[in-house]
Amino acid sequence: MEPDPPVPTLPPVDYDQVQHQTYARGRALPAEAIQRYMTTFGDYLPARRPLVGVDLGSGTGRFTPALAEAFGGPIHGVEPADGMRRTAEAGARHPQVTYLAGRAEAIPLPGAAADFVLMFLSWHHVSDKPAAAREIARVLKPGGRLILRGTFRDRIPDHWWRGYFPRTWDIERAMFESEAETCARFEAAGFRTVASVQMEVPFEGDIADLVARLKFRAVSVFEHLTEAEIAEGFACIDADLAAGTIAEKATSGDFIVFEAAS
Ligand SMILES: C[S@@+](CC[C@H](N)C(=O)[O-])C[C@H]1O[C@@H](n2cnc3c(N)ncnc32)[C@H](O)[C@@H]1O
Repeated sequence: MEPDPPVPTLPPVDYDQVQHQTYARGRALPAEAIQRYMTTFGDYLPARRPLVGVDLGSGTGRFTPALAEAFGGPIHGVEPADGMRRTAEAGARHPQVTYLAGRAEAIPLPGAAADFVLMFLSWHHVSDKPAAAREIARVLKPGGRLILRGTFRDRIPDHWWRGYFPRTWDIERAMFESEAETCARFEAAGFRTVASVQMEVPFEGDIADLVARLKFRAVSVFEHLTEAEIAEGFACIDADLAAGTIAEKATSGDFIVFEAAS
């Protein structure tokens, strides 16, 4: 197998100063899409209820109340960026949800506290991944499960907007580990890899609305593009939107399920 090409080091995305202002609006999902994730995640979690969960890197709480509805809770949303967490506290409340300041490398919960941990598009932001894998093992009960919803370098999703910003292919290859690297990290921390799931995410919603939401730039790859690239891409999108020629594409919501040692 050929070695992976060298990839540039990217600066971290600033969720405190920039992204929290637009993330909730820019990344909002229809209720059916959230429910589809809950149902699919449920296939990999025990059937008993309630389940105690951690939404690790919970951001603006996009999934946290839905986790409480689906699995009973309590659900602990752990999030390092104050701005993101405050947005969640204001707009994603649920009686079984609490939001805590913390990060994957230092989770503010006692050992064996949770039946499951969800990381939804937060793993690639973690700077000390070995420490985070150990922390997740610590807070899970024996046999508890981690659902790691991520993007993997070997399977960058071909979003409908990708072709308008072609450098995002290279940027995302630099942002994300391969699936094998991710599995190796967790296996080194004592986890067993249970499943690798490619969940089809249908193209849904009104294309004009999707364009409007993309313009919030609440996808972290936009933080690494130049203003000129962004302006050029959106000019082409606007032209194609007016002409009705934007191609609608389904993508894949990839996640890996890991099990802590019993
Ligand atoms: C793309 S957002 C995803 C938020 C949420 N899970 C969602 O899907 O809407 C990534 C989140 O990971 C958080 N994050 C960054 N570094 C982290 C770390 N070391 N541990 C846990 N979360 C982290 C960011 O602050 C941000 O809120």
